Amino acid sequence: QPADGLPKNIVLIGLMGCGKTTVGRKLQALLGYPLVDTDHLIEEKARMAITEIFARRGEPAFRELESAVLNELSAPGTPRRIIATGGGIVGRRANRKLLSKLGYVVWLQAPVDVILQRTARNRERPLLQTENPREKIERLLIERSPLYHEIADLELETSGLETEEIACGILESA
Ligand code: S3P
Repeated sequence: QPADGLPKNIVLIGLMGCGKTTVGRKLQALLGYPLVDTDHLIEEKARMAITEIFARRGEPAFRELESAVLNELSAPGTPRRIIATGGGIVGRRANRKLLSKLGYVVWLQAPVDVILQRTARNRERPLLQTENPREKIERLLIERSPLYHEIADLELETSGLETEEIACGILESA
């Protein structure tokens, strides 16, 4: 931790729709660090939207881009940031290693119903373009929970909390 008492990077992990972007924006406002989002960096790199990458090149190609972006974020000498990640970034062991070195890792948790409500509003999640998104989310939660848990410095159940409360909770613990 740097001498000014502020954390290095804050890394937000968790399933789609758990609030990484919203909480990231609030942390950015409170802390004044820039917010970066791995999905946005991937879209810039590929010059394509996430849905297009999945549709035209497939998920494996997306995961390659995701690892490449994470490697770039892990380069030494970068300024402190808030880093919001894609829900599946923890799938690869090498990614988990990089994420835990990158900064203070916060796993944001939300109930499946809340996740479904939030993600139903947009069509930007190719993994949820399925007949039964609830089943998909439940399966991802089972698969990924141990992976999130493995690298989380803080695990935060966010249901019933305001964004501001979540962000302040993170800053108090970081
Ligand atoms: C994914 C989550 C998405 C995005 C991609 C795959 C996943 O990010 O990276 O659609 O595997 O859970 P968000 O968690 O920001 O929605």
